[in-house]
Amino acid sequence: MERGYTVHGLVRGQNNPRLTNVERLCPGIEFVEGDLLDQSSLIAALETCQPTEVYNLGAISFVALSFKQASLTGEVTGLGVVRMLEAIRTVNADIRFYQASSSEMFGKVRETPQTEGTAFHPRSPYGVAKVYGHYITVNYRESYGMYACSGILFNHESERRGLEFVTRKITNSVAKIKLGLQKQLALGNLSARRDWGFAGDYVRAMHLMLQQDEPDDYVIATGETHSVEEFCELAFAHVGLDWRDHVVTDERFLRPAEVDLLIGDSTKARTKLGWTTTVSFPELVTRMVESDLAAHSAALRQGVAGG
Ligand code: GDD
Repeated sequence: MERGYTVHGLVRGQNNPRLTNVERLCPGIEFVEGDLLDQSSLIAALETCQPTEVYNLGAISFVALSFKQASLTGEVTGLGVVRMLEAIRTVNADIRFYQASSSEMFGKVRETPQTEGTAFHPRSPYGVAKVYGHYITVNYRESYGMYACSGILFNHESERRGLEFVTRKITNSVAKIKLGLQKQLALGNLSARRDWGFAGDYVRAMHLMLQQDEPDDYVIATGETHSVEEFCELAFAHVGLDWRDHVVTDERFLRPAEVDLLIGDSTKARTKLGWTTTVSFPELVTRMVESDLAAHSAALRQGVAGG
């Protein structure tokens, strides 16, 4: 929106509760009804908005949930992509298309670091569905000459991250523990390693991909990897606490198959798109902890003021 775009957000379902959140965070977005499960609604949405660019970030995106709702994940996260591509072909084949592919496609990694050429070995129904989304995007580009790009994004975080994901779960708990609102934080696999970057930087990369002469696929990553344990250590230390005094492990948060290590090589994006990161790992942890501290402190003050 800062770049002068009119932005339409696709909203599904009756009275979607997330609408209020998005309206609060990004006032000015125009909403249009549509559902990745429903082909005709996507065609109608495109006809209404007449977009020049479509960013398909829609998915069941929580890996743990995808094990419990495997076929729904396939429908939304996988087949949803072909429905959107077909809608574009029907309404206006010149619309530029961005598909949010994921480093979860690398799964049980075949090589380190992972590049655009690394073979996929997904480890969850979510990862499998994303592989379908990736290849159908490449296929529509090759079959119909569509301007369709796949961004293979490694984990990207910010203070807007949902509480179910490990980074925000940690920073939110750190804030509550610091303020005396919580005592312990229960986590699953502490040794999993991720390449965590700042979401704002990654959104710039998505936009850059659609401004090139030719469509292509790009890995977007920081090139650093850290464990969940390291994330905890930094987050607790930021408020003067020792993570070992508060973190417990709980097997309910373990996954049937795990992705142990992710680290991306984004040389292609850095060279061809001129893309760079602006927020380091410690800065990312700090800004997320600070944001949760501010929110919980404000809520406490209001609670006290209101009796
Ligand atoms: N969520 C969660 N909760 N994860 C935990 C926990 C816990 O209590 N304890 C350990 N973990 C580990 C997970 O097992 C995983 O190895 C790692 O922390 C990160 O988990 P998430 O934050 O849930 O993210 P993700 O890596 O599975 O997936 C995210 O990044 C992908 C990009 O690689 C999601 O945003 C995906 O949609 C995205 O594609």
